[in-house]
Amino acid sequence: MFHANILPLFTIVEWNCMTSTIQDIHSEVFGCASSHVVRAPGRVNLIGEHIDYLGGFVLPVAIDKSLHMAVSPSESGFCRFWSAQAGSDPVSVDLNQLAPRDGNQSWLNYCIGVMALLRESGVAELPGFNATIASDIPAGAGLSSSAALETATALVVSALSGADLSPVERALICQKAEHLYANVPCGIMDQLAVGCCVEGHALLLDCQDCSTQLVSIPDGTSIVVSDTRVKHALGDGEYRKRREDCEAALSIMQADSFRDLTIADLESSQDKLDERLFKRSRHAISEMERVGQFVTALEAVDETQMGSLLRESHNSLRDDFEVSCPELDLLVDASYDFGVIGARMTGGGFGGSTISLVREDAAEDLVHYLKNSFQQTFGREIEPFMTVASGGASVIQS
Ligand code: GLA
Repeated sequence: MFHANILPLFTIVEWNCMTSTIQDIHSEVFGCASSHVVRAPGRVNLIGEHIDYLGGFVLPVAIDKSLHMAVSPSESGFCRFWSAQAGSDPVSVDLNQLAPRDGNQSWLNYCIGVMALLRESGVAELPGFNATIASDIPAGAGLSSSAALETATALVVSALSGADLSPVERALICQKAEHLYANVPCGIMDQLAVGCCVEGHALLLDCQDCSTQLVSIPDGTSIVVSDTRVKHALGDGEYRKRREDCEAALSIMQADSFRDLTIADLESSQDKLDERLFKRSRHAISEMERVGQFVTALEAVDETQMGSLLRESHNSLRDDFEVSCPELDLLVDASYDFGVIGARMTGGGFGGSTISLVREDAAEDLVHYLKNSFQQTFGREIEPFMTVASGGASVIQS
């Protein structure tokens, strides 16, 4: 049952999720109480960019912005989805026709893809359900809003069907949904970060075998995230081209993985690679080396070393991998001018967000400084925010 008296809620864009509220909205929209609520966070990556799909180590952190999904079972053979961001009436999905959608329903492909692949893998009998979705993770900001939606869907289907998936199995299904239903050949970082992160920690993730290790974030260190609001669309081809460049370089160098190569190996193959492939490879090899060095610096709370590694990572993404943009560069430069521990672009790039690591007591001043610097250069507002390392996706009510 759909009640017109909740219409004002449809206009809320950045909705501050509260479990009780999403349960109330679910009852309003669908006329019945929710049986489960799941929460899936966004993520930032501290270091190890564009190397997850090359089998490198990466170091993501779940942030305290998240997506909530409240659901109730329905017997009908249909799922109905209502999203606070998309507005309008609930959208029906026939469980016997799980085909991708176009246009303003394309956000549903993350859910449809996960459901179809869960069924295909024989893991779950697909239950019919009604879902209410609200998220305060900015979309297209490089903060994994899509991995959060995929993971929430997988958790909900598992909870309703009793399927028993490990976090890694779940992440692999979500990644495949992104490949096949959103046309983004992503690595495994986002889905594992959203599913497996732990409060107060970064997750050192070996993308070759999906094993993980926790690394504490030092007390008194804040993470400031600045969304440039330059919308990235990883499906539009540049992301795929970076992957293809790296694969082409590996095949020319007759190597299985950049993990087996050093910068000296690359230099000795320089005459076989054109300039672009040489630069892509230099990013991959040097970024893989930086992740290990950064973890050592983080554990030793060596802020000087952390700062130079983050700077080198950003420069390498800007100059060798060519995935930055002037807005990201400005925010990183302004962060260092301010006197942060370190800063860099985070996520896939081509727009999206930066992270700045800063002492807790300076974080608020940094937020104002970045806002003003951005306004002066680009003539528009951004809203940098402080975040803390939060926990991975879970069922928070059942
Ligand atoms: C996107 C992809 C990830 C990863 C990052 C870059 O977020 O989804 O798999 O490749 O870009 O590090």
